Amino acid sequence: MGELNGKVALVTGAARGIGRATAELFVREGAAVMIADLPGSDGAATAATLRAAGGQAAFVAADVTQDADAMVAATVAHFGRLDILVNNAGIFYPADALATPFTEWQRAVDVIFYGALHCSRAAGQVMVAQGQGGRIVNVSSVNGFLGAAQSSHYNTAKGAVDQLTRCLAVEWAPHRILVNGVAPGFVETAMAVVDGVNEHETPDFQAFYVQRRRIPLARPAQPEEIAAAVLFLASDRCTYITGHTIVVDGGLSVTF
Ligand SMILES: NC(=O)c1ccc[n+]([C@@H]2O[C@H](COP(=O)([O-])OP(=O)(O)OC[C@H]3O[C@@H](n4cnc5c(N)ncnc54)[C@H](O)[C@@H]3O)[C@@H](O)[C@H]2O)c1
Repeated sequence: MGELNGKVALVTGAARGIGRATAELFVREGAAVMIADLPGSDGAATAATLRAAGGQAAFVAADVTQDADAMVAATVAHFGRLDILVNNAGIFYPADALATPFTEWQRAVDVIFYGALHCSRAAGQVMVAQGQGGRIVNVSSVNGFLGAAQSSHYNTAKGAVDQLTRCLAVEWAPHRILVNGVAPGFVETAMAVVDGVNEHETPDFQAFYVQRRRIPLARPAQPEEIAAAVLFLASDRCTYITGHTIVVDGGLSVTF
C-alpha cells in the first residue's frame, strides 16, 4: 500500500526541481498527480516519464498567477476529484530594494504569494464541496523568516505564504482541510543557478556553508529530501499538525 493510494494531487511548478521530486514521490506512493507548470516548461515530458513508469500523471500548462481555477478544473476533469494541493511554484532573482523597479518587486509577490493564494482558494472550493477534508502544503523557504540582502521581494512573499498557511489552517479546520508548509534551506535545483553560476559551487559557499559548517549537515539538500517532508504533511499520517511550517534546512537556521 502506498501512502497516497487513491488520492488525487495537484502540484504547481512540478516540471522540475522540488515540485518534480514531489510529483515523482506522490506517484510512487499511489497518487494520481496533475503537474501544473508554465507553457514551455518540461511539464509534459515529466508527466510522460511518470506515466511510462506505470504511474498516473498528467500535465496542465498553467500560470499560478492567472490560471488557478483552470488547473483545479483540469485536475477534477482528468482524475475526478482533488485531495491534495502543493503550492510549490516559485521564482527567484536578486532585486535591489532601491534600484529595482516596483513591477519587478511585484512579479515575485504575484507568483509566490498571490499564486499560492489563488490556487488555495480554487482548491479549497473543491475540497469543501467534496466534504472529505484535504491537505494543502505550501513550499515556503527559510527566507520567509530570515533576512537577506537583494531579496526583500522574495523573503516578504515567502513570509506572507507562511501567514497564509496559518490563517487558512484556522479557517478551514472545520472542513478537515489541513494546511501546512515546508521551508527548505539550500536545495540543489535550477533555482540555485543565478546568472549562470551555481551558488552552491562557489568557493565562498563551500568555505562558509560547507567547510565551516554554517549548514550543520554541511551540504545543500537534494529535492527528494524536501519532497519527503511534503509527502508526510500531504498524507493521512499527518492528522494533528495544521498551520505549521516544517523547516528542512540541514540545521542552517538554528545556528549562527
Ligand atoms: N532551490 C532552493 O534552494 C529553494 C530553497 C527554498 C525554497 N525553495 C522554493 O521551492 C520551490 C520550488 O523551487 P525549485 O528550487 O524547485 O525551483 P525551480 O526553478 O527548479 O522550479 C520552479 C518551478 O516553478 C515553475 N513556475 C515558475 N513560475 C510559475 C508560474 N507563474 N506558474 C506555474 N509555474 C511556475 C517553473 O517553471 C519551475 O518548473 C519554490 O517555491 C522555491 O521558492 C527553493
